[in-house]
Amino acid sequence: MTSLAIARPHYSIRKFDPSRTIERPVLNELLDALRYCPSPTNLQPWRFLIAESTVTKAQLADAVKQVDVNRNLELLDASHFILLCRLSDMSDAHLQALLAQEAAEGRFSDDSAQIAQHHARARRINLHRYERKDLAHWMEKHVYLALGSLISRAAALGIDAVPMEHFDQASIDAAFQLPQQGLTSVLLVALGYRSRDNGDGPVKSRLPAERIFMFR
Ligand SMILES: Cc1cc2nc3c(=O)[nH]c(=O)nc-3n(C[C@H](O)[C@H](O)[C@H](O)COP(=O)(O)O)c2cc1C
Repeated sequence: MTSLAIARPHYSIRKFDPSRTIERPVLNELLDALRYCPSPTNLQPWRFLIAESTVTKAQLADAVKQVDVNRNLELLDASHFILLCRLSDMSDAHLQALLAQEAAEGRFSDDSAQIAQHHARARRINLHRYERKDLAHWMEKHVYLALGSLISRAAALGIDAVPMEHFDQASIDAAFQLPQQGLTSVLLVALGYRSRDNGDGPVKSRLPAERIFMFR
């Protein structure tokens, strides 16, 4: 695949090929893109639900149809869905899990480096919790970054990704008991291979480069 093709992925496909499944090694590459996505202070305030069974995919497709009745893409033909969730709140348990993982993987030269990391992280969280009062929104931004990472990797692998932020979030959160797990759904992505009779689809359209880039 050329770099130009990667830079201009077509998310808005018309039809997935129902006969093609994303094989596990390729799926693992997509999951790596999520797992290794950077986040401020390495906070990783996310979890991802991978839907591969027909039942789960139908539940998610239905949540899209609830709010988007005119959707003409047959979502059930997608190979997989990934539901991107954020943490509902930042817990001590999550912070401790981060520190333990970082320590186990040798990220700290000594104990004082570990303590410094913890304090830096706590300061940043407190800034968003108490001063800016946007902790949930801040964590949601990280999930959007993970989405960017995922769709770029998908394009590089020749996989079509259809991101959707418009779905019945409340019913999905309830169906998968997300609040009980301290999670809130943010985004849904359908993944698969486009059908050969995909048609032309919408023409790719973007504002001209001179309108969006400023060189000084
Ligand atoms: C964060 C994000 C959320 C999106 N949400 C939806 C959505 O809820 N429903 C939908 O039909 N398309 C959704 N899209 C697809 C965009 O509408 C599409 O990418 C955009 O129109 C550009 O078209 P293109 O990807 O074919 O270039 C979303 C895309 C992004 C990046």
